[in-house]
Amino acid sequence: MEIENGYKCWLRYKNVEDQSVLSSYRPFCRNITVTKTSDIINYALDELIDGISSMCSIVPTVTDEFVEEAGLVIGTDRSKIIDIVGKEAFESLDREGYMIKTVKSKIAIAGKSDLGILYGVFHFLRILQSEKSITNLDIFENPQNKIRMIDHWDNLDGTIERGYAGNSIFYKDNKVSFDQRRIKDYARLLSSIGINAISLNNVNVRENEMRLITKTYLTDVAKIADIFRNYGIKIFLSVNFASPTYVGKLLTSDPLDFSVKDWWKGKVREIYEYIPDFGGFIVKADSEYTSGPFAYGRTHADGANTIAQALGQFGSLLIWRAFVYKMQDWRDRKTDRAKAAYEFFKPLDGKFLDNVILQIKNGPMDFQVREPVSPLFGAMESTNQMLELQITQEYTGHQIDLCYLVPQWKEVFDFDTYAAGRGSKVSNVVSGKTFKRPYGGVAGVSNVGDDPNWTGHPLAQANLYGFGRLAWNPNLSSEDITNEWTKLTFGNNPEVVKTISEMLLSSWRIYESYTSPLGVGWMVNPGIHYGPNVDGYEYSKWGTYHYADHEGIGVDRTKATGTDFISQYRPQVAEIYESLEKCPDELLLFFHHVPYTHRLKSGKTIIQHIYDSHFDGVEKVIEMKEKWIGLKDHVDQIIFNEVLERFELQLKNAIEWCDVINSYFWRKSGIKDEFGRKIY
Ligand code: GCU
Repeated sequence: MEIENGYKCWLRYKNVEDQSVLSSYRPFCRNITVTKTSDIINYALDELIDGISSMCSIVPTVTDEFVEEAGLVIGTDRSKIIDIVGKEAFESLDREGYMIKTVKSKIAIAGKSDLGILYGVFHFLRILQSEKSITNLDIFENPQNKIRMIDHWDNLDGTIERGYAGNSIFYKDNKVSFDQRRIKDYARLLSSIGINAISLNNVNVRENEMRLITKTYLTDVAKIADIFRNYGIKIFLSVNFASPTYVGKLLTSDPLDFSVKDWWKGKVREIYEYIPDFGGFIVKADSEYTSGPFAYGRTHADGANTIAQALGQFGSLLIWRAFVYKMQDWRDRKTDRAKAAYEFFKPLDGKFLDNVILQIKNGPMDFQVREPVSPLFGAMESTNQMLELQITQEYTGHQIDLCYLVPQWKEVFDFDTYAAGRGSKVSNVVSGKTFKRPYGGVAGVSNVGDDPNWTGHPLAQANLYGFGRLAWNPNLSSEDITNEWTKLTFGNNPEVVKTISEMLLSSWRIYESYTSPLGVGWMVNPGIHYGPNVDGYEYSKWGTYHYADHEGIGVDRTKATGTDFISQYRPQVAEIYESLEKCPDELLLFFHHVPYTHRLKSGKTIIQHIYDSHFDGVEKVIEMKEKWIGLKDHVDQIIFNEVLERFELQLKNAIEWCDVINSYFWRKSGIKDEFGRKIY
């Protein structure tokens, strides 16, 4: 038997176990008719044949021409497909959409383009893997977001900024260096969840990486693009704003200088000689010491538009990051980092070219375990926007602690900005629906490295999977996505599926309960961002404070007495956050500075909540570990051991957090735990 180490992730294609299900599959899967019109369709077909052979133990025959005995009819060819799926429905498919429909003894997988076929095939394989009935399929899918993107923060030396699963799969020793098979498998994994864009390098573009857009590297980058292209995925690169100076040896990178404009145009033309379907650039400008337009007295719209114009020659995109803030003095309680992005970008609304997309992190700070949604969503009616999520677990446990982020992301997507009245959810703003924008989408910072199982923690694969599924359709429920992933990865044993799904679904709140309390964030060890250090960032320049003293804790961001960050939200939202009574408990300390004796809606005081949630978090980690041990005979050994090892480390981490946080606040407040538990 093949030893499963997690490499195949959710594309395991295990034998269908239920014999009656298997015999219902075979007649449909024996003969396939497909119009092979492109490489993408050929790759989709390979996947389908592999999947069917492995799951149903039959090798299907494939014909180009429609034959009566065909059980699977696949294609973009209108006349034959339309007979099966129906004209009206087919016409309402988008370019990447698809239908899967059973009519009597045939199943059609129909799309208007080869991309639709690719996604349709992966969906069909997902159904077989979950051993669901296929005798009555009637599926219609269009992606909600045009851009569904993975951002790698990989450096040319092979390291990964905020990577917790080994080294880069793309680079080593300052060279592009990759295993062909592995990149193909990565492309398969990403495409199976609907990803259609990938950025190949860190947003912090340092000296070596600046040269990725030069001849020295473009031949090799193009080889990566060749692999991803077969799976409908476009390549993007992060570039340094000052490339004209560093790479082009110009005297300036001033975006309004003609030589600079020409340089970008020439550079883009050169890239297109290597990669004819190049997706575009990502730029992190004027942020955490990166170069940007401010150095030349220009705005971010000036900066973005010059590069976007160059990309526009080929219809490609510029993704411009909104993660811009200034360093500050911790003594200054007026300046509030949370306000920065809105202050920089809101005045520029309407000033960006149509192929610029502003990429906004989910929260106003930086991927904390809990933050409110950034007020920029919904503030810029005339600007394309993209949501940036962090799949890699920088502040959420480094892929040591289990922290399944789909429930967090769901809250972000479902958040009502009120930007165009009630119901202007973030999902509709970023898809472009709310303001009828030409572009929009979702990007996730990758959690993948060269670890044999890709993500280090085998269960962290669920974050990658869930990200892709939500990017395709933010309306899917956390429960459905979680169940689906668990079945595809661990098989259909109901006990296993239930235990692992419950574990995943509760893990984010568990992580939250033993780390920094009630939305205040940070309290991590500076630099690495793992483990507790309550004052680690308190007296720093990073703008990340909790302001705890002997009486109380929290950041006053109210209009009445604080930094007035709250006014950046639409009035319907601001009113809730401004009010101590209405503000949700889990965000209370993000918005308000309150005494330790303040009572939450739960009825507990702040201090008692801190004690209880931290002790409780440790208990919950112990429970998760015990539950995992109970699955020993039902999951693959390697995976079992890797997860168990991590639960042991997580438990140590949770105990450390619990003891440090509880001791800190007991010493600060002098208020005892009601239950007299051990605090140091
Ligand atoms: C965080 C992270 C950095 C990263 C930055 C960004 O601050 O710690 O490593 O560069 O986000 O998103 O640009």
